[in-house]
This record gives sequence, structure tokens and C-alpha cells, in this order.
Amino acid sequence: MMLRPMLAAILATAVILPSIALAGPIEDRQAIMKGNGRDTKMGGDMLKGAVPFDAATANKILANYAAAAKAFPTHFPASSKTGGETEASPAIWTMAADWKIATDKFQKDTAAAAAMTVTDAASFGKAFGMVTANCKSCHEGFRIKKS
Ligand code: HEC
Repeated sequence: MMLRPMLAAILATAVILPSIALAGPIEDRQAIMKGNGRDTKMGGDMLKGAVPFDAATANKILANYAAAAKAFPTHFPASSKTGGETEASPAIWTMAADWKIATDKFQKDTAAAAAMTVTDAASFGKAFGMVTANCKSCHEGFRIKKS
């Protein structure tokens, strides 16, 4: 199947770029969240009027959120509870049912927001607010901020 060539490619990359050798679920999920951070900054700037509203960018941000919400929960194997610079709370594993509720809600809200196809700042603000309520509530329960 595809596994062997993929593994070979990963190993080759690790040899060529030793700094990438540490890449794993922690770095992957942090990269997804960094994307959320960038999108939220951009969305917030548009809503504040710091940058002009642009419908294409707004809808792209909402689509990014939906993709992020879908991918994010797949990067929490038991082997990634600690290590690297993770800020993941042990509650993700000890309160797995609550974690599932939080990640399911994030997926549901981001999918609904992406389906809204916003046309102006008012409609974007509504979709954006629906998504970003998840950031704070999930971080409170499941992220231990280090700095
Ligand atoms: C379902 C839970 C959940 C939701 C929803 C969520 N986050 Fe996170 N976020 C986390 C967890 C857990 C971490 C820590 C990941 C790690 O370090 O392993 C994190 C980390 C981050 C980080 C730090 C990334 C880094 O390592 O540099 C940023 C920035 C961030 N989130 C932004 C957001 C924004 C913006 C939203 C909303 C659009 C959001 N998050 C929604 C759980 C969530």
C-alpha cells in the first residue's frame, strides 16, 4: 500500500532536514492552531475596520476554520500527552467524553459558519462570533498556557 513510500519519504525528509525530525502530532496540532490564530487576527482586523472587509478572504477564513476543526482532534494520540512544547491539558485524555463534546461542537459550529457564505461585515461578524466562542471555552478546559 501507500505506507512504505510514505514512510520512506518521511525518513528521507528527516535525514535531509534534521530539524524536522521532531515533527509529530504535537507540532501538527500546534501548526493547525497557529493557522487559527492567524485567521482570527485577520478576521478581527476586518471586523474592526483595521483592514477593509473582503468577502473572499472572509469566506476563506471560515473554510479554514472548518478544515482546522476537522483535522485538529486527529492529532492527539496517547503518546503525545507530554513532550515538545505542548500546552495540551491532561484533561484531553482523562475527560475524553468532554473533549469529544468540545471538538464536536467546534466542528459543528465551523461547518455551519462556512456554509453561511458571508457577503458583508455584519454576516461575517455573526459567523466569526459563532466560531470564536469555541476558542475561549476550549482553551479554558483543555489548554494549559505556558507563557
Ligand atoms: C476543541 C478545543 C480547541 C478549540 C475549539 C480551539 N483551540 Fe486553540 N488550542 C487547543 C489546544 C489543546 C491547544 C494546545 C495544543 C498543544 O500545544 O499541543 C491550543 C493552542 C492554540 C494556540 C497556540 C498554538 C501554538 O502552539 O503556537 C493558538 C494560537 C490557538 N490555540 C488559537 C485558537 C483559536 C484562534 C481558536 C478559535 C478559532 C482556537 N484556538 C480554538 C484547543 C482548542
